[in-house]
Amino acid sequence: MSLTATAPAAPSLARRLFDPMVDPATFDFWAQKLHATWSWSRTLARVVERRVEAQDAVTLVLQPNGHWAGFQPGQHLNVSAEIGGRRITRSYSLTDIPRRDGRIAITVKRVEGGRLSTQLCERTRVGDVLELGKAFGDMTLPASAQGGQSPEGRWLFLAAGSGITPLMALTRQLAAQGMPVDVSLVYWAKTRAEFCFADELRALARQHPRFQVHFVVTHEAARGTDEHEGFIDHALLTRLCDTAGTGTDSTATATATATAWADRQVLACGPGGFVDAARALTAATARSFLAEGFTPTAPADLPGAGEATTVSVSLTRSGRTLSVSSGSSLLEALEAQGLNPPSGCRMGVCHTCVCQRHSGTTLDTLTGERSAEPDMAVRLCVSRACSDLSLDL
Ligand SMILES: Cc1cc2nc3c(=O)[nH]c(=O)nc-3n(C[C@H](O)[C@H](O)[C@H](O)COP(=O)(O)OP(=O)(O)OC[C@H]3O[C@@H](n4cnc5c(N)ncnc54)[C@H](O)[C@@H]3O)c2cc1C
Ligand code: FES
Repeated sequence: MSLTATAPAAPSLARRLFDPMVDPATFDFWAQKLHATWSWSRTLARVVERRVEAQDAVTLVLQPNGHWAGFQPGQHLNVSAEIGGRRITRSYSLTDIPRRDGRIAITVKRVEGGRLSTQLCERTRVGDVLELGKAFGDMTLPASAQGGQSPEGRWLFLAAGSGITPLMALTRQLAAQGMPVDVSLVYWAKTRAEFCFADELRALARQHPRFQVHFVVTHEAARGTDEHEGFIDHALLTRLCDTAGTGTDSTATATATATAWADRQVLACGPGGFVDAARALTAATARSFLAEGFTPTAPADLPGAGEATTVSVSLTRSGRTLSVSSGSSLLEALEAQGLNPPSGCRMGVCHTCVCQRHSGTTLDTLTGERSAEPDMAVRLCVSRACSDLSLDL
């Protein structure tokens, strides 16, 4: 690992000159006969290493082509692959820090019945090519920490399952800077076999007195001094925070009597339910709180959702008209009818699925707000139809 960020790829002179004359798909077709990742404009990456990280989890090291514009630790990207003749796209966090050789890494946990995670964990091999989107996301260290200056304060990282991935990148970034702050990482998994990066995290904790890691198992008994058991709750978190962060900050003991995390900047990542629990426990009492959910929270009590009905959706570009249920997201409803609109995170973050709604009313499942203004952009993954619709698809 090195600290050099990948330089943004400037468009070559040839590309700028020929851009108006070139059909990118035709160019890519012929270019890829010569080299698997040559492309006019798409970011393609070759898998150069594959290692099993834990039970059902694999790290893929990728060598992107020159269109890759770099990233900050803590960010994620959209990864696409062809599965059964369909292009499937999902978001994955970058787990390494920027390297001099430009290689990047993702760590994928296989989801039971999951299309892309199963493909990446079980069938993807060294030499295979994946398509990448650009890096995005706000779960990064403050700007001061990027340039090698010391970040400040005390940090509490809360990770569950594959939610360890962006927090691993941030831990590696801080370790590369000599661990200039107190960091406590509390990491939940069902069983210890599912902990990714366990050896590296333990080695970092031995090497850096200001870094502590607590592994918490929910489906088996804890063993060893850094293992605990139980779901996230006030008592467990208080106990772990009280034993964590023995660094130089003298406020540690004082705050233990209030909430143990009152002076902490909390970053939480994992399934939607875990992130909601972490938010409910710490957001109001921590110094700051930032979270990233890998799965949407079930919109059970969605205000304004009403009873699911069947509505008619006309697609102006393809000229098709479909009957879809108002009870699922437009993205899911369109996919269920065999369409494959562009998508990525599937939870309203990446904006890959944005599409113009010419007419009709939609419900934003994140905010619970209805909108009927004509010619508005909607995110298909977090929008449901409330009436007949016309979409620019
Ligand atoms: C910003 C962001 C970053 C992410 N980073 C990572 C990462 O670094 N590593 C990683 O392994 N995953 C990560 N994910 C999750 C990832 O994008 C996919 O959701 C996951 O790999 C499942 O995709 P799939 O195609 O295999 O499953 P699908 O075919 O989409 O889904 C199959 C079934 O699994 C359920 N499901 C979908 N996702 C999950 C999940 N994460 N956990 C449990 N059940 C699920 C679905 O509801 C569905 O029932 C991230 C998600 C987001 C939004
Ligand atoms: S797929 Fe990312 S916002 Fe809809």
